[in-house]
Amino acid sequence: MTDAAHRTPVIRLAPAKLNLSLAVVGRRADGFHDLHSVFVPLALADRLSLAPAGAGGPEWADTLHVSGFDPGPDADNLVLRGITAARAAVGQGPGRPGTPPLAARLEKHIPVAAGLGGGSSDGAAALDGALEAWGAADVLDASARSRAAASIGSDVPFFLVGRPALVEGRGEWVTPLGGVHGHPGVLLVTPSVVVRTPDVFSVFDASRAIGDGSVRMTSAHLAQELGNGLSATDLLARAGVLAAANDLLPAAILVAPGLVALRRALTRVLGRPIGLSGSGPTLWTLYPSLGEAQAAAAVVETAVDDGTIPTIGEGPPTIIATTIRTGDEGPAT
Ligand code: C5P
Repeated sequence: MTDAAHRTPVIRLAPAKLNLSLAVVGRRADGFHDLHSVFVPLALADRLSLAPAGAGGPEWADTLHVSGFDPGPDADNLVLRGITAARAAVGQGPGRPGTPPLAARLEKHIPVAAGLGGGSSDGAAALDGALEAWGAADVLDASARSRAAASIGSDVPFFLVGRPALVEGRGEWVTPLGGVHGHPGVLLVTPSVVVRTPDVFSVFDASRAIGDGSVRMTSAHLAQELGNGLSATDLLARAGVLAAANDLLPAAILVAPGLVALRRALTRVLGRPIGLSGSGPTLWTLYPSLGEAQAAAAVVETAVDDGTIPTIGEGPPTIIATTIRTGDEGPAT
């Protein structure tokens, strides 16, 4: 490890993601599902800082301090699991850098367990940041990093790429795409209902809801278009098709029936198609710019306050306006 690596905390921004399409193409022997999904990173991001911990006693270990949204036990684990996966991948031996414990600080800005990939993104940021903190960034090539990321969770390899991508398999096959030109706005509405990803996949299996292939076709078409780069205007023109392009939507609705009323009310109030990100419960809609997404957020806040939009779950929804990261902004650090 270099002296500089000792002194300066490593900072990583861990962006949220949106699934513009999500086709479930099959169930695997290992219990996971093969997907065909276009993921885009968002400007909305958590902030992770990693610094080598001071030498301590026998309890000397990686530590995590979290502020902002309460991450729950799973998100905690993903930062610590990211560091642990990085340590395992670097390994030990002559010529290998040391991997001393790290003190991690995480500012949570991404709603937790929301279908926005926050925990997975934190895990990827922890993996990448730990390697840098140890001066070990050159020890792992891209495929070793990606394997380490996949060991943390299905969505984690995507977050190493930092730009729109086609995600296949369980999440381990990530093909970077040309992306979106411009910065389309996104409105995110995350209701306060618990929707656990394994439950959505279980209900999906139980209802034998393998789609009719139309979502797969939409996803393949979108991946092809984004491969060449798509303008924000062209993306907006596809908003209606994309809002319906999620094979997990029927299962998420069975897990959280209130999503039907919320989605219907948002459609009515905003006059736009409303999609579900991942396994939910976050609902989203696209705008030409951040300013228009912010104006829509204000409209939704008023409608929640006056009861036009129903509150489902434990309290009011979290409403966030952000933009799609095109991938040309440079790394999210
Ligand atoms: O990999 P991760 O821990 O994020 O996955 C959470 C759960 O989601 C898995 O235990 C599995 O039930 C389900 N899953 C799946 N197929 C995927 C991704 C997740 O069945 N491609």
